[in-house]
Amino acid sequence: MNEQSVLYGIGLGPGAADLITLRAMKILQEEVDVIVAPRTEKNNSSLVLNILKKAQSQLQMQSKVRALEVEILELVFPMKEQQHELLNQAWDDAFEKIKSRLDNGLNVAFITEGDPSIYSTFSYILDRVKKRMPNQRVEIVPAVTSFLAASAILNQTLIEGEERLCVLPAHYGVEVLPSLLENFDTIVLTKVFKVLGELCASLEKQKMLDKAVYVLKATMDGEKICRDLRELNFEEEKKNYFSMVIIFVRKRKGILSGERE
Ligand SMILES: C[S@@+](CC[C@H](N)C(=O)[O-])C[C@H]1O[C@@H](n2cnc3c(N)ncnc32)[C@H](O)[C@@H]1O
Repeated sequence: MNEQSVLYGIGLGPGAADLITLRAMKILQEEVDVIVAPRTEKNNSSLVLNILKKAQSQLQMQSKVRALEVEILELVFPMKEQQHELLNQAWDDAFEKIKSRLDNGLNVAFITEGDPSIYSTFSYILDRVKKRMPNQRVEIVPAVTSFLAASAILNQTLIEGEERLCVLPAHYGVEVLPSLLENFDTIVLTKVFKVLGELCASLEKQKMLDKAVYVLKATMDGEKICRDLRELNFEEEKKNYFSMVIIFVRKRKGILSGERE
């Protein structure tokens, strides 16, 4: 093992090139030998790598950065959530490729869309590194996460005072919705693309449809906001992985301003 090498988990933000942090750009420019970019089987190119390329070309045009002369390693991760063996195999293979480079003294950056700590494949790599390479240096570079980008484009804050926020993927089942509506003030549902119809019906049943907003591709090309989920073409939206629904219940809002006891 080479203890001098560093594994970076670098968040590149929600999509807009100018939301990448200075720290992320500096490390990618100055410290890194290999950039690992995850991509899915369906996509021919890695979305997160596209975010980086866009930022690079904008900054290069302004002569603020130089071209990246590093190895780019695109790794394919299956999206087969029920197939644990297949997933573990893909994460093991990715870990081995990263490990061989770290062992050779190379600094490796695993780049993620949004933040590396929020529902990111980096988590599975980090687990393996901690177990199998306990002395490996690791640095995480935080980023603007998708739901903060979404609340920003809505010009809406998410929580205040004693309010409670929850963030969860919706595709594991929308039957939890009544209990979430009871217990939380702002509910961020990611991975909604396959369950939008069901979600819309459930919100209608709970008389909460007017509290829900759909956000597609926050800060990316093709950004869209829809404040009435019934207007969406659910079949069409199934193609849109980068979408979420935020439900603003806000029943605990106003404690500090004295609007509530
Ligand atoms: C695997 S999670 C990755 C989250 C990411 N690490 C983050 O910090 O936001 C992917 C889900 O995040 C949401 N998402 C990510 N980026 C988004 C964006 N720019 N606009 C809307 N939703 C986004 C979508 O719900 C998508 O299905």
